[in-house]
Amino acid sequence: MDTLTIDKKDTVVILTLNRPDKLNAINKAMIAELSEGLHEIRRDPLARCLVITGAGKKAFAAGADIAEMEHMDFSGAKTFAEKGCAVMQDIETLPIPVIAAVNGFALGGGMELALACDIRIAAENAVFGLPETSLGVIPGFGGTVRLSRIAGYAAAAEMIFSGKAVDAIRAQQCGIVSHVVKPEELMGYACSLAEAISRNAPLAVKAAKRSMRPAQDTAMENMLFAQLFLTKDQRTGMDHFLHKKKAEYFLGE
Ligand code: COA
Repeated sequence: MDTLTIDKKDTVVILTLNRPDKLNAINKAMIAELSEGLHEIRRDPLARCLVITGAGKKAFAAGADIAEMEHMDFSGAKTFAEKGCAVMQDIETLPIPVIAAVNGFALGGGMELALACDIRIAAENAVFGLPETSLGVIPGFGGTVRLSRIAGYAAAAEMIFSGKAVDAIRAQQCGIVSHVVKPEELMGYACSLAEAISRNAPLAVKAAKRSMRPAQDTAMENMLFAQLFLTKDQRTGMDHFLHKKKAEYFLGE
């Protein structure tokens, strides 16, 4: 696989998002490989817990790939978000528990991926944010629905409307993260938690996950996400990021 790696330590599977030069931004190829990789993990009878992390020291994933999204039209954006949402749901409905080990930036689609996991452990340098409204769009991989559910409406509204990122401690206060550890201890902590989960009765752990699964409806988010690709603001927002220009006043067109 080009965009991710999958390793196994006994019953613990470690999936690493692997585009460190682009801060592990989630492109179409990564979505396809995640779908394939998760399918394999789902079929592995020996797998008891999955840990997802990002390659490099800087990022878990800095969002969906803006360079790929910049010129998408309505139907391209709709399909992209549907596929992204399906992968997030594959994570959420994987029968075994999934731990996000967040090592740095978890922005946009990267934060949405972490939100689809059951448990989030953050390094002290982790940064969480959904900056999509600063790019003229909204989260498209289920983030509006999941963040509201996990952190509560007010904290989610503050983050999504302002686009402002929060550090690991604030993310813990909001209930997004359950533990904050030193960067060098992150994978050790996440793997030892995964091993502890793996030692419990696997049928009971799977039953607990099924029983805790929330109701889900991201259809409205998907339609609104795609409609924003009909606006000038989306072109302006993404063009400004990619060409490293200062943000301009959005015209609302
Ligand atoms: N999509 C595509 N490329 C991305 C990306 C994304 N979401 N996030 C980072 N990259 C790329 C950058 O374009 C840059 O590529 P280049 O070296 O070819 O120019 C590379 O990753 C490194 O990022 P850079 O911005 O130079 O790093 P930085 O340390 O200065 O800033 C961030 C880090 C995370 C603050 C910044 O990359 C950022 O704001 N990323 C976008 C976050 C975002 O809006 N995500 C939501 C998308 S919907």
